[in-house]
Amino acid sequence: MAIERTLSMIKPDGVERNLVGVILSHYEAGGLRIKALRRQQLSLAQGRAFYAVHKKRPFYEELVNYIVRSPVVVSVLEGDNAVTKHRHMMGATNPEEAAADTIRKKYAQSLQENTVHGSDSLENAAWEVSFFFALSEYDYFN
Ligand code: CMP
Repeated sequence: MAIERTLSMIKPDGVERNLVGVILSHYEAGGLRIKALRRQQLSLAQGRAFYAVHKKRPFYEELVNYIVRSPVVVSVLEGDNAVTKHRHMMGATNPEEAAADTIRKKYAQSLQENTVHGSDSLENAAWEVSFFFALSEYDYFN
């Protein structure tokens, strides 16, 4: 299997409810390594840009307002098959459809306030990682 990197964002509802440690523990227990980590308040412009792919969707404005409501915790996760592995750990976007033992099944509050975001493809992972982190923050050239 290929070593991949993906972006995780613990969203405002997760950070507000003090779930950062428990969610990061899921990643480590599941075999992903946290290569970079930051708590960050997104600006409105950053929220809009990060979710620009959804700008035609009816929920876009509400989604942007939610994501800038309070700080998020972003991280770069690395491991075998990291993109898919992370998505399995998160569970379905809608917590009502998420499998047992997934992060969203355990902690998410609603379709919008679903606690975590993860890149959905290797291509998007590269873009999302670069949105938040410089190469020197997660690739140590060793
Ligand atoms: P995420 O994985 O971050 O990708 C886009 C986000 O939009 C998604 O998680 C949810 O937070 C939100 N979202 C997706 N579909 C809907 C919807 N139908 N109504 C409201 N929010 C949604």
